[in-house]
Amino acid sequence: MSFWPRLFFIIGIATASAYTVSPGQNAYRFPNAEVLAIQREVADQGHSLRVLVNDGEQKAIKYVFLESGVLQADYPSSSEPVSINLPRLRLGDWDEAYIHLDRQTRTYSIRNTTRKVHLESMDFWHPRKIDYLEFSKVEMLQPDRSQVVTHPDFDVPVLIKIASFPWDIPSLERETNGYRLLHGSGATPEFLGHVTEDGRAIAFITEYIEEVLSIRGRNMQGCLAALQRLHRRGMAHGDAHDGNCLIRKNGSSVLIDFELSGETWLHEEFERDLDIMGRCIQDSSEHYQESLL
Ligand SMILES: *[C@@H]1O[C@H](CO)[C@@H](O)[C@H](O)[C@H]1NC(C)=O
Ligand SMILES: *[C@@H]1O[C@H](CO)[C@@H](O)[C@H](O)[C@H]1NC(C)=O
Repeated sequence: MSFWPRLFFIIGIATASAYTVSPGQNAYRFPNAEVLAIQREVADQGHSLRVLVNDGEQKAIKYVFLESGVLQADYPSSSEPVSINLPRLRLGDWDEAYIHLDRQTRTYSIRNTTRKVHLESMDFWHPRKIDYLEFSKVEMLQPDRSQVVTHPDFDVPVLIKIASFPWDIPSLERETNGYRLLHGSGATPEFLGHVTEDGRAIAFITEYIEEVLSIRGRNMQGCLAALQRLHRRGMAHGDAHDGNCLIRKNGSSVLIDFELSGETWLHEEFERDLDIMGRCIQDSSEHYQESLL
């Protein structure tokens, strides 16, 4: 079995077993914490929340887990979001909490809290490291995943791509490593640094490319050139559809989303990238022509 089918297989399982909802739709409320990300597991798993606890001047990121029993009590069968009022969270020396439902009083309380020692395995290859809490959010692009933010280090808004939960770290690491290999190639948005939480890397920062549709329509061919720059560094993209190619306002093209990328010199892998992108460009240029008629 070659590298790609195996990888697709693993990713396929990961995406089938969990889906995310946007925090705007969530039904969870804490008196003193904002829900930043939710992951709902299907089947009998609970829900996992990444929250920002506010205690006066102090803030901290915490992870809260709700057992499936807690959820079934409030989601008997309806698909409508139900509001669940969760307990006050303290700051302090913990980062993961389990929530318990007292079925008699129908109140939620914290069953236990623990301090998880997260293994520091990510390679900080870029010298800039910024704590997550230093950013100001401008716009959420993909719930739990990518947001446009500002920070005094940058003159313009930048993009951060986040691993919202510990189990998202491996794909973030793969992508961060892709950016390292491609650094200086011109094939990617500019990589601007790492985002930390408690000292461990949970996200990375890149240039934010806001696309202009008319410019995009005229410059898609550049996506093939960007793929060739990638291939010259000994990397195949692995998911080279047009949605993973962005066009800057000056017309230059870059590739994003290196979660399925791999180091290789196999000609077939390169051909596959080019073939998929070529067909996407052809389709989208037909749409673009039609929209001009
Ligand atoms: C906390 O509670 C959860 C859920 O009941 C349990 O799985 C976990 O082992 C507990 N952790 C500790 C440290 O007691
Ligand atoms: C377009 O902008 C990017 C990023 O600022 C720069 O690296 C690139 O050289 C520019 N390309 C052209 C054709 O001006």
